[in-house]
Amino acid sequence: MKSARTGRRLLGALLIFAASLLPSARSLQSVAQTPPTQLPGHNALLIGTDWYPEQWPEERWETELRMIEEAHLNVARLAEFAWSKMEPAEGSFQFDWLERAVRLAEKHHIAVVLGTPTGGPPAWLTQKYPETLRVDENGRTAVHGNRAHGSVTSLKYRELCHRIAGEMAKRFGHDPNVVGWQIDNEYGYALMSHNDEARRQFQEWLKAKYKMLDVLNEHWTTSYWSQTYDNWDEIPIPVGENNPGLMLEWQRFVTYAWTSYQQNQIDAIRAHADARQFITGNFMGYGFDPFDHFVITKPLTFVAWDDYVGTGHLDPDTNGIHHDAMRGLKRENFWVIETQPGFVNWAPVNNSLNKGEVRAMAWHDVGHGADEVSYWQWRSALNGQEEIHGTLVGPDGRPVPLLEEVATTAKEFSDLEGAFRGTRVVSDVALLQDYESRWAINWQKHTEKYDQVAILKSYYHALRKMAQSIDIVCPDVSLEQYKLVVAPDLYLIPKERAEHLTEYVRNGGHLVLGPRSGLKDEFNALLTIREPGYLTEPLGAQVEQYYALEKAIPASGTLGSGEVSVWAEFLKATAPDAEVLLRYGKSNGWLDGQPAVVTRKYGRGRITYIGGVLGDGLVGAASEWMAKTSGIRTAFGAVPDGIEVNRRVGPSGSVFVLINFGSESKTVELPREMQSLLDRHALKQVELPQYGVAVLADQKK
Ligand code: GLA
Repeated sequence: MKSARTGRRLLGALLIFAASLLPSARSLQSVAQTPPTQLPGHNALLIGTDWYPEQWPEERWETELRMIEEAHLNVARLAEFAWSKMEPAEGSFQFDWLERAVRLAEKHHIAVVLGTPTGGPPAWLTQKYPETLRVDENGRTAVHGNRAHGSVTSLKYRELCHRIAGEMAKRFGHDPNVVGWQIDNEYGYALMSHNDEARRQFQEWLKAKYKMLDVLNEHWTTSYWSQTYDNWDEIPIPVGENNPGLMLEWQRFVTYAWTSYQQNQIDAIRAHADARQFITGNFMGYGFDPFDHFVITKPLTFVAWDDYVGTGHLDPDTNGIHHDAMRGLKRENFWVIETQPGFVNWAPVNNSLNKGEVRAMAWHDVGHGADEVSYWQWRSALNGQEEIHGTLVGPDGRPVPLLEEVATTAKEFSDLEGAFRGTRVVSDVALLQDYESRWAINWQKHTEKYDQVAILKSYYHALRKMAQSIDIVCPDVSLEQYKLVVAPDLYLIPKERAEHLTEYVRNGGHLVLGPRSGLKDEFNALLTIREPGYLTEPLGAQVEQYYALEKAIPASGTLGSGEVSVWAEFLKATAPDAEVLLRYGKSNGWLDGQPAVVTRKYGRGRITYIGGVLGDGLVGAASEWMAKTSGIRTAFGAVPDGIEVNRRVGPSGSVFVLINFGSESKTVELPREMQSLLDRHALKQVELPQYGVAVLADQKK
């Protein structure tokens, strides 16, 4: 007979199990409101293209727009490189042509997004005001004829950008067919000017932050190599290697410069535009990191990004990381405001995506939280640097073969949009990413083999199989909705961040730290506590020493056996209840037999430290252990290899998007009967060929 205690324990376990199946309070609350990416009065899923009327005779416009409409595309982005047409001479604004284009688009049911043209200032402007041109780190001034040649720190340039954005907003800020704005274009790849004006602004920015030079000297330990500064104007813009404190502040200044450049145009637009019009920027995915995207995207209505595969084919994990990281910037749905119509012109090999892959990619975008997908571009200009980029229409004005696939996808988007209204991606697992930690490690890698993106990807790949959904978020946001939070290399853990993470653990979360965690503070200076710094106390363990590895070494323990490569840390348990899950095998003598992975229950949760870069087998085993310990379950159930599962949750249930990225046809058993939205059938099983897509409505939330 079971004792009363066992019965109570069983009941407790059942309650925990039941609770683990429910979305958390935060996720329920967030699904209640419509995402800002879904525009009132428009389809919840939009699909479009970039159209540049300024490159074509006006007689042709209507033909192009009719073709766009016939392809079921319903959004067009216009004007982001049309400054010389909108302001052909200083102060003379010509918007009538653009107005006619917007009206014609409206006639063909195509909503317009206007780009501010500041990624390409006209020749008259840079000729008259040479100080607006960017100067590179070798002192060379940009030449007219390429783009991103404006200087983000030039006050004159900002004045002229403010004026053109404001004039556009005066004319189009109440236009019923203009749904929103994109500021600039890819923010000039975050390139900075290295001239006196920029340097002076950097020094002023430092002065406002540190107030006293002594404070700066102390935090940067400038007594090292006689770096001491006696005057603010002695501080250089770092070029190449420099003091790590100075380098981190310069990178923060880069973020500040582009954020205030963006704000200057937001202010110009908001002064005249309806609140209904959104403002966004087109970002470049997870890999592009010269500024802190968490900071720059804060004032925007939502995040939009440009999703290009370049050479090769769509890797669902790589592209999934991009999407999930872009979604994580504001923890909200996003737009793919540019994507490749088959192929690009700038990759080492500009191969085309295969037949069916462009459609699969569009659904992959939606599965990860995109509410718009837009093809760059409709038709290429007859001259200019990008003449042979992929398009939907050839130079002769007739469809290229891909247009049919895009039109089919667009029709599917229109037919199924209702099912996605109010839906979002909901995850139990988060990966933490921190731009500042990323920069700081990359400046002092210690081993050229240390690849933060590859490490993040190894966890993403293993954990996504188990959870079928992952958020990639900033370490400082509220983490309470997650059962498991993995920080592959959170190098900078200042006290406040450590307290925030400890609180998450205390309240029941499972925090997993990777190697190099908590070595440094917010000034990029070493902490005087061993790694993971302020988190050694909850962990009940610390790092005794780190080693860059010449070759892989063995490791084994309760997690199984496998290899550690690139980096290994020798851990020491300091609390009696810290449990060792993995030890190094024979190696350099220092590491032999020492703990590699330690875990400890703390408060109502758990904290784990993984001291090495684990090989794929061990990442898999560790992820399985993490998922099990943290109560993570697949959202859909098991699927065959090659099938990617995505789920969006809305007020009336879930929509699953299943895509076959494998090369062979696969049969997927559904966990229960669902409604296939693409062919309107109730199903218990679905057959998916390569690039096949199933969109399944599930009543269950
Ligand atoms: C970028 C730009 C576009 C165009 C495409 C080509 O994303 O924003 O203007 O140059 O690349 O792939």
